[in-house]
Amino acid sequence: SIYSIFALIAAYLFGSIPTAVWLGQAFYGIDVREYGSGNAGATNTFRVLGKKAGIAVMVVDIFKGYTATNLAYFIGLSVTGPQNSTQFVNYELALGVTAVMGHLFPIFAGFRGGKGVATLFGMILAVNFTAAMFCVAVFIIVLLTTKYVSLSSICAGFTFPLSIVFVLQSSIKSEVLYGMVVCILILVTHQKNLERLLKGKESKVYLFRKKTK
Ligand code: G3P
Repeated sequence: SIYSIFALIAAYLFGSIPTAVWLGQAFYGIDVREYGSGNAGATNTFRVLGKKAGIAVMVVDIFKGYTATNLAYFIGLSVTGPQNSTQFVNYELALGVTAVMGHLFPIFAGFRGGKGVATLFGMILAVNFTAAMFCVAVFIIVLLTTKYVSLSSICAGFTFPLSIVFVLQSSIKSEVLYGMVVCILILVTHQKNLERLLKGKESKVYLFRKKTK
């Protein structure tokens, strides 16, 4: 219906909010896209502006995906049927991925955004809480052992469909399909990171860096 189109547009606009760019400009007077990896995301904000700013961007970007996905509740129930129906979940996933597209190509920041990891996570959180927890666990384990956020993001992305198929044994085929979409999206957005990882040139992120004298 026309309302579901409106909701998709709203999801795109929501995802388009360039948290990293705006926060950097408002509080630090810089555009994070000119530093570090050049990415407008939580990781690069952490790298360039520090822990507080990075966490703030992460929280808002997760919230964007979570809220956009939950727009399904406003109109979805009447259009697609009950919460656990395949159609409803499809619609949630479509809204979430649309928000991620907004994050990648933000209308409010010259269409140069981030990689959509936090926003994708917000979508997963809204669609399947258990799967989201598996993703977080994998992300943290890979990050603590390798210190590469990009590698952690890629592994966590692949955890989404795997946990849906093997652990939750979801009968909703579209969830699996979207899970694969998530994997492809993450691989596409992390191409440069993958190249750097293979060359051993990817920058590491230390969550608990000891102050050296
Ligand atoms: O948050 C995206 C992360 O996976 C990689 O970010 O800045 O290291 O390219 P970055």
